[in-house]
Amino acid sequence: MKFNIITPFPEIIEGALSASILGRAVKNGIVEYNIINLREYGEGPHKKLDDHPFSGGPGMVMMAGPIFEAFEKELSDSDTDKRVILPTPVGVKYDQKLAEELSKEKELVFICGHYKGVDERVVDSLVTDEISIGDYVLTGGEIPSLAIIDSVVRLLEGAISDPESAETDSFSHPLLDVPHYTRPANFRGMEVPEILLSGDHKKIEIWKNELRLKRTKERRADILTENKG
Ligand code: ADE
Repeated sequence: MKFNIITPFPEIIEGALSASILGRAVKNGIVEYNIINLREYGEGPHKKLDDHPFSGGPGMVMMAGPIFEAFEKELSDSDTDKRVILPTPVGVKYDQKLAEELSKEKELVFICGHYKGVDERVVDSLVTDEISIGDYVLTGGEIPSLAIIDSVVRLLEGAISDPESAETDSFSHPLLDVPHYTRPANFRGMEVPEILLSGDHKKIEIWKNELRLKRTKERRADILTENKG
């Protein structure tokens, strides 16, 4: 799967995509990242990317020109129909279901906005999906793009060593995940729950299911109501 990321701050993206599972996925031939430096398409000697909004008021808007040029020059010769994602707080809310849907695509494009946002003509002509990663405002689209890429890559076959572990994660499962422990069984006087040392897998499974339900009720009752409907 190929990820194209158009960003004025490639350095934010590069580090994150070269480490751990996301970096290993490149070495294993599962994914390819094409990081496009929007700054190169900026206008004039200062490589300007933004301008004042016609509506007035504070803040700047990213101009359509540099984004269209980067898009046309860097992406138009590939023949796949690509979904083009603009992370934005006004987008549809991202969830595991959408991650699964995106993981079936051959190629994705991310446009990382900054400041007040991007000129709406970019949205009208290039963007297929406006996505919000939550009800809070970040300074730019790089971190949301990385969150989406991370959640998609780990769903690709061969990206993580134990695919069963992805299936039981919170949100792949309709309830939140349980707490996990590893050795030692006693760490500074803090004991692992006894049942986990019992070797009785049936009982452990019951314990886990009860805990999943309890946690979900306490922390995310909204998930329980959603699943009922
Ligand atoms: N850009 C700024 N805030 C964002 C958010 N919550 N989700 C996606 N993109 C954003």
